[in-house]
Amino acid sequence: MNATAASPASTATAGKTVDRIELTRPDDWHLHLRDGDYLPAVLPFTVRQFARAIVMPNLRPPVTTTAMAIAYRERILAALPEGTEADSDFQPLMTLYLTDRTTAAEIEAAVASGIVKAVKYYPAGATTNSDSGVTHVDRARPALEAMQRLGLPLLVHGEVTDQSVDLFDRELAFIERTLAPLVRDMPGLRVVMEHITTRDAVAFVESCGPNVAATLTPHHLLMNRNAIFVGGIRPHYYCLPVLKREVHRQALMDAAASGNPKFFLGTDSAPHARHTKETDCGCAGCFNAHAALELYAEAFDRAGALDRFEAFASFHGPDFYRLPRNTGKVVLVRERWDAPDEYPYGADTLVPLRAGEPLQWRLAQAG
Ligand code: NCD
Ligand code: ZN
Repeated sequence: MNATAASPASTATAGKTVDRIELTRPDDWHLHLRDGDYLPAVLPFTVRQFARAIVMPNLRPPVTTTAMAIAYRERILAALPEGTEADSDFQPLMTLYLTDRTTAAEIEAAVASGIVKAVKYYPAGATTNSDSGVTHVDRARPALEAMQRLGLPLLVHGEVTDQSVDLFDRELAFIERTLAPLVRDMPGLRVVMEHITTRDAVAFVESCGPNVAATLTPHHLLMNRNAIFVGGIRPHYYCLPVLKREVHRQALMDAAASGNPKFFLGTDSAPHARHTKETDCGCAGCFNAHAALELYAEAFDRAGALDRFEAFASFHGPDFYRLPRNTGKVVLVRERWDAPDEYPYGADTLVPLRAGEPLQWRLAQAG
């Protein structure tokens, strides 16, 4: 598509309200699709908006080998809405789950497979299904060295698990203790800091070379930590890394709207059954795939930055991953609709972000 002609920038600068946005078909560079009966319940939401998605490996058991990634990919393709791969051109981009035992040979096999596009680093215990994660970065050295050599990106959940560090400071502590030294020691390693939540992470990513980038979720662009406590405790706004202060949200939005190619779309849509969120020890994760592009459009609209939306959603991600940009288009229109209270989720139900509340944009057309 002709990006210039389709960009809403011209209308925005003419002082008119933009009511229609046409974008090159975007990709989701951080997504949880789950497995079993949950997978077909959430996959259609992503397929209708995105051409590709980086699929997180934190299943039980985690996707630690290329063989497991190939099998998981087959299950995703089999769950595509019309039933067969040929019915949809959606491409799941697979990831491996890094552990203390991941070998260089496994990384070589991953690259050779052509279907594994990145490796996910969960500090052990940092988030949902992360107990098999890395206990100390040094233990993952052989794998990281192979990734540096082969150009396979490392996707980082950037939080320390040290319980003595304040929950809201764990991203900064991870940057200081682990990520900055790692990037310094391995200057050829390609790194995406996933779902960043602080101005410190923005500053860190900006300070690095072009080998370090970051994804941003719609919920971290739209909300600050007050959202978790409006009139009572709101488990559906609890995710990790947790929402932060307004000053951080503003820094994230500024980064997303800056046009800097280091920052791109990754929803971190993380479905959990209603009863596992609404309980005395609720799971972390927000399900936003039902309205991901609509939520991002709202964030960019609020920031007066709709002219920067397409590059963030559709260009920076494939450019970083060295994949071609998509050729299809999607259209969003300014139109209010209410998100449903819940969706079916296998034998359970799923409460989406904004449940029962209005959204300002609607995905009108995809192709
Ligand atoms: C994710 C999940 O539920 O798998 N949860 C979350 O709060 N974001 C895991 C993750 O990405 O941290
Ligand atoms: Zn995630």
